[in-house]
Amino acid sequence: MKTIIKLFLITFCLTSLSLTLPEKVKITNPTQLGEKLFFDNILSGNYTRSCASCHIPAYAFADTVAYSSGVDGKFTKRNTPSVMNMAARDLLFWDGRAKNLQEQVLFPIQDANEMNCPIDSAIARLNSSKVYLKLFKAIYKKKPDANNLGNAIASFEKSLETSNTANDRWLRDKPNGLSAQQQKGRSIFFNKGKCIECHFTPDFTGDEFKSIGLFDGQKWNDSGRYYVTKKAEDIGKFKVPGLRNVAITAPYMHDGSFKTLEEVIRFYNKPTDFINNKIPRDSLLLQPLELTEMEMLDLEKFLIGLTEHKFLDKLKPKN
Ligand code: HEC
Ligand code: HEC
Repeated sequence: MKTIIKLFLITFCLTSLSLTLPEKVKITNPTQLGEKLFFDNILSGNYTRSCASCHIPAYAFADTVAYSSGVDGKFTKRNTPSVMNMAARDLLFWDGRAKNLQEQVLFPIQDANEMNCPIDSAIARLNSSKVYLKLFKAIYKKKPDANNLGNAIASFEKSLETSNTANDRWLRDKPNGLSAQQQKGRSIFFNKGKCIECHFTPDFTGDEFKSIGLFDGQKWNDSGRYYVTKKAEDIGKFKVPGLRNVAITAPYMHDGSFKTLEEVIRFYNKPTDFINNKIPRDSLLLQPLELTEMEMLDLEKFLIGLTEHKFLDKLKPKN
């Protein structure tokens, strides 16, 4: 009798255990394969970095420092942007040197300051991994190559869209939309602040290159778009970044030189307090905005209203 009860208990425990264990997600499509690759150190020269080392999921796939740590004690030359809301993007990087997401994937893998792995070695590693060889063959009917590697990671990135922010809910007339103060801030964004002139798409970029004047050839010495076009008029122009989840992707700008949204807004309000630049700032920013302290705060609250619901816990309580 005792043994029967014991046996019963053991079987019961084993079945409930197998029910509670998380089921391993089966990888059957490019997006799932791309996700696995995005988190895998196999693509870095010394097996210590993955895309997610710098594009940290909890911070909207951006980093929390001005320059990210790459392989062999090296640091990136620019600030790591979020890779969420990339599906509608055109050119990638602060200077637009990659033509699309699939092509972009191959840059960080080879970049000496980031993952430092020649693309041929990365592909050879994937081909000699039984797991990856099987997955690529099942999903692409081909062995791993630069094309399907880029395609897989790009399709994962395209799945990282933000659509549940206070601003989205407000636009859809749903509950928990923008507060009264955030609505005032929205109006400043669209009118007195002129932000909308450059940050005008649903993701609040414009996929254009503009100079907000962060270049003086000295302290600010990154020529930006000029590296790609070699046109003098492009010196100091950078891609207008999207602003979804911007409240949790500090520090800001191509060099991470602004630590808070408040600082960014104070800069736009009166750029000359921060830099007397030698290259022309965009004509939209030649006159101070003359926002009041209250208006600057309203604008900041509106930007916070562009945060995806699941990231709200990352916002440090103010006051
Ligand atoms: C060591 C840190 C680091 C690693 C690792 C890294 N990145 Fe990045 N990523 C950056 C930095 C810095 C930039 C901006 C560089 C620039 O604009 O010149 C960037 C830019 C990007 C962009 C462009 C975003 C935009 O708004 O234009 C994408 C997409 C991206 N990375 C995807 C990836 C993928 C995919 C991987 C893995 C294969 C990866 N990154 C690995 C630091 C990193
Ligand atoms: C003339 C075009 C233009 C206007 C007008 C403009 N921006 Fe920008 N914005 C940019 C560009 C370009 C950058 C990146 C500049 C750099 O990195 O050097 C940027 C960067 C930012 C960033 C940093 C984002 C990040 O991820 O680092 C924030 C926040 C921002 N803008 C908010 C605003 C607000 C708020 C306004 C209105 C007060 C505004 N912008 C007006 C073009 C513009």
